[in-house]
Amino acid sequence: MRTTRMLRAGAALAAALAAPAALAQDADPQAIVAGQFAIGGNHPGVRASGAKGTCVSGTFTPTPEAAGLSKAPHFAKPTPMTARFSMGGSNPKISDKTKAVTRGFSMRFKDTSGDFVLVFISAPVFGTRTPQQLLDALTVRLPGPDGKPDAEKVKAFVAANPETTRQAAWLNARPVPASFAGVDYWGVHAYTLTDAKGKATVMKLKTAAAAGQLGLSDDELKAKPDSFYADELTERLAKGPATFDLVGILAEPGDPTNDATASWPEDSRKTVKLGTVAVAAIEPAATCDGATFDPVVDVPEGVAGPADDPMFAIRSPAYAVSLSRRSQ
Ligand code: HEM
Repeated sequence: MRTTRMLRAGAALAAALAAPAALAQDADPQAIVAGQFAIGGNHPGVRASGAKGTCVSGTFTPTPEAAGLSKAPHFAKPTPMTARFSMGGSNPKISDKTKAVTRGFSMRFKDTSGDFVLVFISAPVFGTRTPQQLLDALTVRLPGPDGKPDAEKVKAFVAANPETTRQAAWLNARPVPASFAGVDYWGVHAYTLTDAKGKATVMKLKTAAAAGQLGLSDDELKAKPDSFYADELTERLAKGPATFDLVGILAEPGDPTNDATASWPEDSRKTVKLGTVAVAAIEPAATCDGATFDPVVDVPEGVAGPADDPMFAIRSPAYAVSLSRRSQ
């Protein structure tokens, strides 16, 4: 089992690192992933991000509108799903009470033709615009000899890169989610759906929680232990599936597709419901750990990520580096 995992991880890494000539990269994915691990304390055997999480299974049921917009087989009929909720970062001991950290929702819709992977976070924007900016943001926050980052250097970086503060500002303006199933998640990047006749529709993707935004008050937060999401989800699923609408937020002329730190004005954009994501059961961690949720490679015909967003393509080699390291 371990050998199979390592072989699969090695093959994924080799494939990903052989491909980057075609990818818009301006920083080394190995260096980025090393930075991600270092910030979280270099824990072995965990992901470079989303290290703490819960693996689940369920179903994705598309709407007829989705089938009209994309020829992907996953939009033609219900598919079984493996998914994983997580806390951002590489520290597997991070408290579920941490506010300025995204919650993650990675989904794998499984069809005989191949998998369709979507990897979402609980904010409409990512923290950096380019891989080099991500590497710089990580490097400046590495702990110094006193175990802390250099506050002056962080201040200077933030002043020179104001767009890197948008994600934290968004999270800090909202309460800590009470449940992995009680918060919305965004795909952040712009996707293009293409139908059988070649008609393309550009949109951002989001899962809207049927439970709504379940936030904890300060008093409720104080009363919680550091790990409560896994138990909360187990109790919730014992009563029935936790569902989300998969929603497409349609682009209007001028909406940027190349900047993961820029959100579109969602309230004034048309939306389309693409399907229902139903999370039904908790799965052993191993069900999610053997492979990586790769949102670049595991995309069916009829769905494409943004060719002009430098943060998108580099995710594939970075995730492979992390899989390789955590599988050793
Ligand atoms: C250049 C940009 C990015 C880099 C380098 C990066 C890197 C990584 C790495 C190395 C992992 C661990 C993969 C594994 O071991 O399986 C990971 C996981 C994750 N990333 Fe990213 N990421 C990037 C952008 C994003 C964006 C834009 C999102 C959200 C839209 C995102 C959401 C997540 C989530 C939710 C996980 C956890 C996956 C899981 O549960 O297995 N990442 N990321």
